[in-house]
This record gives sequence, structure tokens and C-alpha cells, in this order.
Amino acid sequence: MVVTKNIDNRWVKRYRICFVIGAFILSFQIYLALRFFRINTDTTSTASQWNPHSIINIDSNDVENSVNSARRSKDGLSIDDEDISNTLHQAKEKYRVKSDVIINKTHAKNQLHLRLEELDFTPSCKITTKEAISAIHRAKTQRCKQIISNVTCLIADGLLYPKKLPNHCPNDGLIGGKSLGCFKDEKSFRLLSGYYGNFKNTNSPDFCMQLCLQSGFLYAGVQYSAECFCGNEEPTATARLPDSSCNMKCPADPHLACGGYYTVNIYQTGIAKFSPQIAETTASFNAKSARIVFLLTLNGRALRQVKRLIKILYHEDHYFYIHVDIRQDYLFRELLALEKQFPNIRLTRKRFCTIWGGASLLQMLLSSMRELLSSNWQWDFVINLSESDYPVKTGDKLVEFLTANKGKNFVKSHGREVQRFIQKQGLDKTFVECDTHMWRVGDRKLPWGIQIDGGSDWIALSREFVAYAASDEPDELVQGLRVVFNYTLLPAESFFHTVLKNSKFCHTYVDNNLHVTNWKRRLGCKCQYKHIVDWCGCSPNDFLPEDWLRIQNTETRQIFFARKFEPVINQAVVLQLEQWLYNSNYNRNVANINSYWQSVYHYLDLTPSVDDSLLTVAQSVARITTKSLLSTCVLALDKILEITSFHSDDLYQKSLILYVANTTNAANKIQIETGIKGKQSFVLLKSSPFLHRLKSLAVSTEYDPKEQTFRNFAQIMGPYSEPTLVFEFNSSPEVSAKTTNVSFLWIDPVGRLVDLYDTSIDDNYAIGHIKPSLKQPLLPGTWTVKLIYKQVLAEIKFLITPLEFFSGNVVTQKQVSFIHSGSDVIKEFDPYWEKFLPNTFDRETLFSKSIADSKRFGTDLQDWIDSLVNKFFTISDSCTVKNASGVCQDLHVCSQTNWSSFAPDPKSSLENILYKNNNESFKSL
Ligand SMILES: *[C@@H]1O[C@H](CO)[C@@H](O)[C@H](O)[C@H]1NC(C)=O
Ligand SMILES: *[C@@H]1O[C@H](CO)[C@@H](O)[C@H](O)[C@H]1NC(C)=O
Ligand SMILES: *[C@@H]1O[C@H](CO)[C@@H](O)[C@H](O)[C@H]1NC(C)=O
Ligand SMILES: *[C@@H]1O[C@H](CO)[C@@H](O)[C@H](O)[C@H]1NC(C)=O
Ligand SMILES: *[C@@H]1O[C@H](CO)[C@@H](O)[C@H](O)[C@H]1NC(C)=O
Ligand SMILES: *[C@@H]1O[C@H](CO)[C@@H](O)[C@H](O)[C@H]1NC(C)=O
Ligand SMILES: *[C@@H]1O[C@H](CO)[C@@H](O)[C@H](O)[C@H]1NC(C)=O
Repeated sequence: MVVTKNIDNRWVKRYRICFVIGAFILSFQIYLALRFFRINTDTTSTASQWNPHSIINIDSNDVENSVNSARRSKDGLSIDDEDISNTLHQAKEKYRVKSDVIINKTHAKNQLHLRLEELDFTPSCKITTKEAISAIHRAKTQRCKQIISNVTCLIADGLLYPKKLPNHCPNDGLIGGKSLGCFKDEKSFRLLSGYYGNFKNTNSPDFCMQLCLQSGFLYAGVQYSAECFCGNEEPTATARLPDSSCNMKCPADPHLACGGYYTVNIYQTGIAKFSPQIAETTASFNAKSARIVFLLTLNGRALRQVKRLIKILYHEDHYFYIHVDIRQDYLFRELLALEKQFPNIRLTRKRFCTIWGGASLLQMLLSSMRELLSSNWQWDFVINLSESDYPVKTGDKLVEFLTANKGKNFVKSHGREVQRFIQKQGLDKTFVECDTHMWRVGDRKLPWGIQIDGGSDWIALSREFVAYAASDEPDELVQGLRVVFNYTLLPAESFFHTVLKNSKFCHTYVDNNLHVTNWKRRLGCKCQYKHIVDWCGCSPNDFLPEDWLRIQNTETRQIFFARKFEPVINQAVVLQLEQWLYNSNYNRNVANINSYWQSVYHYLDLTPSVDDSLLTVAQSVARITTKSLLSTCVLALDKILEITSFHSDDLYQKSLILYVANTTNAANKIQIETGIKGKQSFVLLKSSPFLHRLKSLAVSTEYDPKEQTFRNFAQIMGPYSEPTLVFEFNSSPEVSAKTTNVSFLWIDPVGRLVDLYDTSIDDNYAIGHIKPSLKQPLLPGTWTVKLIYKQVLAEIKFLITPLEFFSGNVVTQKQVSFIHSGSDVIKEFDPYWEKFLPNTFDRETLFSKSIADSKRFGTDLQDWIDSLVNKFFTISDSCTVKNASGVCQDLHVCSQTNWSSFAPDPKSSLENILYKNNNESFKSL
């Protein structure tokens, strides 16, 4: 107990009862005081603006044993995983089938030994940490296993991380470790009130001082042996006591004093009070305008949004330096064309494979910055943007602001207590990136001697600072931090902050990253990156028109960019923003202003690899069209060129398939674009009051729980897809306070029940998704999901298309018989469900048809595919790219339609940018 230790024994004996009661009251009060103290620090942190990407870690063993979704079937997997869903966030979603991960505790316990027989190398040390062992076992390639084991051993030998780093931020001559003496502390009024920790084994003046320094405090105080307090207020001389009043031994070193009972030894940490700079608002009259490099780090295929962004930011004095993820051939190829047109646009050739939260992000940024530094471009600031950013102030205002603030650096700090930030962010863990995954391999100690800082990874940095942080010849601080952040989750959220705070540039720190981010934690924190990172991360949401106020509120603030914007989710808000920034005539009466096209496939792409089912359906559509509709002018399909997703008024309209066909005139080939749309729709089978509430049922893949939408808009699925069901119920008009347990049956093309899910529905609005664990390959043909409550209420049919292509090539006969036979793993279910399945006779018929189908090959296979495609997709208009003289006269010319990918799209066209040749094209010096 806290109080008893410091009191004389004889006294205790004499007044035992009074003492016990007194002690009890006292300790209760101390408990209250401590509690109060903690709550206080908590409330300050919730007031902060910072929103971390990563919030909570999941145990690496959980990941190893992850099993999809809750399920009730005879193989009896348990359902809930309270551990994770509860800690994740309180807002419980009622209807989501929760739990993505099942913890297998027995399994975890038996895991402490590295199975050496699975490795083709011998680790250079004995690896015993649970996380490292788990990571090595989970890693796919031997190379990755070896990297993890090498890093683990380097850490174990103390060879990887620096223990201490220099702090170059001027400190007004303060001396780290200087003792100020022993002081009297009070429980209701702490001398040092910024941080409190209890360290039973490690506390000492030096330890506490280093911890306080790391957290950015000026003073450290040790008290009652194990306690460490940090704060920024200099202790008052009146509280000074003789040194003998601080007489308790330190746990880490009994020769040293660590305060006493409400007495505290206070030390300077050696850092000076840090106050971030206030940005200037107006530039001096004759200042030279700041020139900006927009460092665009791009991923995905949103080419037209990238062009729209470049267009609105464009100024001949600015530069665009573009990094396209190495796996994105399409975006890289299409943007490369801009280099010829604009000397101030350049794509880096040093491309990285960047993953969410990965160490490669920092390597990529530093590499790009280095190239910028050694080029002939004359710039003052670099601003990091991605395809999902958009400006919320005009370019002129941005330039004026930065001109007034040359030399300053804009980063956003987390604004919480630092030790808490370190834990939440996982900075006290080592992560190793390989096999496009961030593996958590164990705990670590951050180097002493420096302040740790971090926050948002959207930054605007001055050239001088970039030259320092990205230098080829880094000083000890930068070199040390590069090593630390090479093994850090979300390194870009802390590296630049920490360098800035501890370098001679610390007085250029402005706590504002010029960005507003659309966080909706309830949707954004679904641990959606756990297949990439051994940690649970959050992601901001796309802006929708309903979030408009958030944008409007930036008007009077020093905020210049907002994120995220994604035109496949919502484009109206982008236009609203443009017209608010410039004027209501901006982009007014522009053709197809509310339409958006995004590439899904291009025949020249080597990566990402092509989706065989998409190619199969595209080929089938082109074949059907050329055979029937165009048979008068076109002979045969030659090849598929591109597939594009077409959206208008923020609704998915259709998928456009562009292909070449041979014409009757042998010398003439013709390019045709044809639209298709899935016609999946659900059927209500029985009338029931409950059903008026069922708004939709849909099956597709790539469900995004954050935006609550399928990314596979076309609903094209094949034997290797992982279908997900999404259901949406409106809220009940009257309150019944009843929950209804419904079941979803997944039935394959031969009428077998393959999976079964229960979920309960109450009076509220509900949107939920279910991803069954189906064994691949899925049997091709018509699948059914039935919604059951005592009887069948509704059902939806969806297509698993047979494949004409496998890994991008035409399937062989041998492949076909394997791919199209389905999986032979059959689960068993309660016979109760029999009555909802086709009868035995029908099932036998379906089964023998399926066996025959699985043998179909060549044109026979094509006929099968075409008949299914005809059934599940609507084939709409076709157009020809050029008015091929004499052929297909009755076809529209694509550029004259309002739907083709060749239709005019001026909002994303860089054609009409007036370009005065002030800039020289990019040269490496
Ligand atoms: C947990 O793992 C152990 C050992 O691998 C296995 O025997 C057991 O069946 C697993 N339990 C569950 C519920 O998956
Ligand atoms: C791991 O370290 C060993 C030497 O300790 C070295 O030979 C090997 O190349 C390293 N492997 C990787 C993948 O870094
Ligand atoms: C820069 O942009 C990317 C997004 O494209 C982001 O993930 C990264 O962390 C950013 N970081 C910095 C420091 O600029
Ligand atoms: C970062 O980590 C990778 C993989 O472990 C390693 O190859 C690289 O040399 C490291 N870079 C630095 C600066 O430590
Ligand atoms: C289309 O014409 C080319 C020659 O122009 C020929 O090589 C090809 O086989 C033809 N394709 C079809 C499907 O007829
Ligand atoms: C629905 O299921 C839950 C758990 O599976 C159960 O606790 C509840 O009693 C059921 N409700 C009804 C109305 O059957
Ligand atoms: C295509 O060109 C012919 C003449 O070459 C013209 O008569 C016809 O109207 C054009 N078709 C379209 C759709 O523009």
C-alpha cells in the first residue's frame, strides 16, 4: 500500500486501529487524486485535432489464425471476438457480422519455438520473442523470413538501433541532468503535472529525465522511489526542502535518491520550452513569390481525377513531381505523356512498391526529395499530395501564404501526451517490411536524447529543411532516425516531425499541416489493413456533399487542402468545391461535367495482373456484339483493348469495353466500345411487413466497409473470386423493440447449401455485409443467396462465370476440367435447412448438367459463357472510335456520345492550359 512504508513501527503498534482506518481513508483519497489527475490529462488530449492512422494493435497470433466472419455450421467455429471488436471502438455496429479474427489461445501458447525445419537458413541468433517467431512463420518467402530474422538478431545484439542521439535544437544554455534539489509536492497540486508514470524496476533520475525529455518536458522529478513526474513549470523556491527529505532509494540504483513521501528530486531535462511558430498571413510587398513542388504520390487508376487536380493547381511557376507506385503501369504510362507537354511535370523513375503504413513510404519520399534537390528546378517548398487531395483555397492564396512564410515547415502534431502517442502509434515496436507486409517483430526502446513527435503525414516543407532531412550525407541525428524509422509503422507520420523538433530547424516548426482530413472513425477504423500490417489502422473517409460544412469551415483558417476525394464515390462535391473557390461559372456548362470514367483494365498493363473473369466477360460481350448486332459490318473480334468504369451523377452506369474487330474490308480494322451492366436484382418471395424494410441485397467482390460500397462495380466474379453479400434494411416505421433472427443461405449452382449465416435485425436502419468462406474454385453457374425467416423471404441470384482465360492466357483443356469442377470440400449442415433447397430430383439434374458443363471447351465453352453473360448482363450501346469510312455507318462515333470513354471530358483535360515557357524541363545536376 502506498502509505504504510514510510511510518515508524512502534507508532503503528500503539495506534493500530486508528492507523488502519486512517490509512484506508488516505489511500482512497490518493486513489481519487490519481484518478482525477489521469482524467485531466485525458481531456486535454481529446480536444486535439490530431487523428492517428493507427489506433490499436492486434496480436500477431490473431492474424495467423484469422478466419473470416461469424458462421454457424457443423464445423462449429466460434463466432464472436469481443477482444478485438470491443477495443476497436465503442460504437458497436449492430448488424455487421462482426469478428474477422478468431483468437486461438491454445495455438498461441504452443508457438514459442521457431520451427527451424521450415527455414532454408539458420538464424544467426536464437529467436525467442513471440512476435518475431510468429512473423517468421507467417512470412511467405524465405527471403522475407530471413530479413525478419536478421533484423531480430541485430536488435537482440544491440546493433541495429542507436541508443542515444544528439539534439541540435538550441536550449538556451540549459543543462540536461542538472539537479534543482529536493522539493515538497502536494497531492492536489503537483509541481510537475504533465506526465506521471510508475516504474518499479527502472526508475532513476536519469531514466526519468530521459523519459521527460523524450516527451518534450523541461523538468523531470522522481518521487516515492518508483514514480516519475514530468512538467514544464519551474518549481517554486518556497517548496524547496533540504536534500535529506528526499531519502528513498531508486529502483534502478540504490545509491541514488528518488524523492520520498510527497517529496521530489527535480532535474532539468536540458531542453528549452518549445513553442511552435505562428504563420505570417501577408507577405511583404516586394517578396519574391514562393515556388512550390507538388510531390504527387499516386496509386490506383484515377487518372482523370489526377489530371483535374493538376489542372486546378497548375501554374507555370510551380512544379509537379510524380511518384507512381511501381505496380501501377496504367497511371505511370498515361501520365508519362504529360512530361513532353509540360517541362514542369516530371515522373520519377525510381519507383517503390508502397504499402499502407509501410517503411517503403519513407524510403520513397526521401528518394524523391533527393532527386528534387539535385535537379535544376528552383523551388522553395515541397507539398505532399495524393490523388485524393483537392485544394480548398485558390492557388494565389497558397502562394501568398507560403511567400510570407518562406523557410518555415508545416507539420501537424498529435497534440497528446507523447508516451501515449508512442504506444498508440506503435513507435515502441519494431516493424519489418517485406513481402508487401509490415511484420511486427517485437518491442523496442526509442533512442534517448531526443524528443519524439508525430502526427499527420501531410506536410509542407521548406527547401532548406528537405536538404537537411534527405541529405546524402546525413548527420548523426538524421542517420540515426532513418534507421529507427526504417522499422517503424507509418514512418511518414513521425520522421519529419521528429527530425524537425530536434534539429537546428526546430524554430521553423509550424503546428499546422495546411490540410483538413475527413475522419469518420466509426467507418474508418475497421482494421481494414490487417492483411498488410500487423496492426489496426484507421483511414479517413471520402468527402460527400453532406460533409460540405467541414470544407466550408476551413475558409477562415490556414487550411489549403482537404482529403479524401474520390470521384467513383462522389464527384459532385469536387465541383461544388471548385465553384466555391473560383466562382459559380467555373466548369459551368462544361460537357459531361457530372460524368466520370476510370480505367479498370488496359491491355498494355503488366501489373497489376489481369482479372481473368473480367477478361472473360469482356471477351464474351465483344463476341456477342460482333456476332449479332454488328454482323453486317464486322467480321470478328480481334482483341480487347481497355475496360472502363463509367459513372454519371455519382452513380455507376456501366462498364465500357473497348476492342478491335476485323471488318469485311480486310485492310480495315475498327475500334468499338460497348457498354454492359450487371442485372443482378433481388426478388422478394413472400409478402411480409418486414420486407418493406429490405432495401437491397447485392453480391459482388471488393466490398469497402469504409465507403460502404463494392469496388467491383460490374459485379463480375469467377471461380477464384471471394463474393460478399451486402444487405440494407430501412428503419422500421413503428417501434416494435423486437429483434428478428434471420439466416442467409448460400446455395451453389447444383443446389447444395455451402454456407449459412445468422444475423439479427431490429427496428433501426441497418447495412451489413457477409463474406462467406467458400472453398475455391467456386463452381461456375448461377448461385443463390436466400434470406430466411421461418420461410424464404427474399433471394438473389448471382453469376460465377466460367473462365475463358487463366492467368491472362486462354485456358487449356486440362485447366478447364479442374477450374470448372468446383471444390470437393462439402460442409454438412443441419437437415432443417433441406426444405429451402431444390428437391433431390432437381439437384440430380443440376448435378449431371454441371458435370457436363465442366468439360466444355473451345467454342462450346464460349457458348456456355455467352449464354450466362446474356442472362446476367445487359449489353447496351456500341460506338466506333473513328468513323471508319464505309463500315458500320449506323454506329455512333464514340466522341459524339455522352457515355463513351472517348466522350469529351474538358474538366480533366490539360489541353487548354496556357503554357508560357518559363521553366526548364527537369534535369538532374
Ligand atoms: C487451435 O489450435 C490448435 C493447435 O493448432 C488446434 O488443435 C485447435 O483445433 C484450434 N482450435 C480452434 C478453435 O481453431
Ligand atoms: C541475413 O544475414 C546474413 C548474414 O548474417 C546474410 O548472409 C544474409 O544475406 C542476410 N539476408 C538478408 C535477406 O538480408
Ligand atoms: C505523402 O503522401 C502519401 C499518400 O500518397 C502518404 O501516404 C504519405 O505518408 C505522405 N507523407 C509525407 C510525409 O509526405
Ligand atoms: C531499411 O531496411 C531494409 C530492409 O530491412 C534494408 O535493406 C535497408 O538497408 C534499410 N535502410 C536503412 C537506411 O537502414
Ligand atoms: C483479323 O485480321 C488479322 C489480319 O489483319 C488476322 O491476323 C486475324 O486472325 C483476324 N482475326 C480474326 C478473329 O479473324
Ligand atoms: C437471436 O439470436 C440470439 C443469439 O444468437 C439469441 O440470443 C436471441 O434470443 C435470438 N432471438 C430470437 C428472437 O430468437
Ligand atoms: C460517317 O461518315 C459518313 C461519310 O463518310 C457520313 O455519311 C456519316 O454520317 C458519318 N457517320 C457519323 C455517325 O458521323
